[in-house]
Amino acid sequence: EGSDKPPGNKWSFAGPFGKFDRGALQRGLKVYKEVCASCHGLSYIAFRNLAEAGGPSYSVAQVAAFASDYKIKDGPNDAGDMFERPGRPADYFPSPFPNEQAARAANGGAAPPDLSLITKARSYGRGFPWFIFDFFTQYQEQGPDYVSAVLQGFEEKVPEGVTIPEGSYYNKFFPGHAIKMPKPLSDGQVTYDDGSPATVAQYAKDVTTFLMWTAEPHMEARKRLGFQVFVFLIIFAGLMYFTKKKVWADSH
Ligand code: HEM
Repeated sequence: EGSDKPPGNKWSFAGPFGKFDRGALQRGLKVYKEVCASCHGLSYIAFRNLAEAGGPSYSVAQVAAFASDYKIKDGPNDAGDMFERPGRPADYFPSPFPNEQAARAANGGAAPPDLSLITKARSYGRGFPWFIFDFFTQYQEQGPDYVSAVLQGFEEKVPEGVTIPEGSYYNKFFPGHAIKMPKPLSDGQVTYDDGSPATVAQYAKDVTTFLMWTAEPHMEARKRLGFQVFVFLIIFAGLMYFTKKKVWADSH
């Protein structure tokens, strides 16, 4: 009951100086909104986050316009009634189902997971003792590699010896191969206005980049600070070395 190993990708956010590709974040948001959002929530992200530094870099006005496309449940009002109103920047992305039971009922028994943290949740590291070296390896990319592989891993032809139950679909990369998510992406499905190819491969890459950002919106600041800490430590170690030489200059 294995699954194929997800192929590696060249991610813009990889490595100690990696950054999110702004275009990919904006296109990925569009893919999420037009495709994934009908089944998957993004409950840790508020519309206002889309205007923060290190993210898709929308202006506050653009975010307000984006938010107002959504209907948000609110209330109770003075009359005690619940009501719907247009979204505001402070609102979080609404979830597609009212609760887990409804989510399961609509999807053949498997609730579509919230996608806010999925790129981290599907990162598995390596077992003992190799996890020690994960600091130096592509650990950060395991989750995104897997997510983008699953999105591209649907195949019509089920290999011999694999049986897929009614209501499940064959996926090359999903553990066990039988997934209850129907193939979500096909070529031409989402219209891009920046000339990027309208292909499954491009959609998968963009939405995965976007989901890496939702899982770690402050990644760029973290890496910048981490680098500054290293520079500081190197300079500080030099200062300490010469201080030590001076302080101990008269001793044998
Ligand atoms: C599961 C992503 C669209 C229904 C998943 C998983 C990911 C994912 C990463 C987790 C796989 C795992 O557990 O390892 C996406 C993305 C989408 C998308 C990025 C948009 C491009 C959809 C749509 C539907 C859907 C439109 C509903 C029609 C499900 C369900 C599961 C699932 C039911 C649970 C599958 C299972 O546990 O067997 N999705 N999805 N997804 N998704 Fe989606």
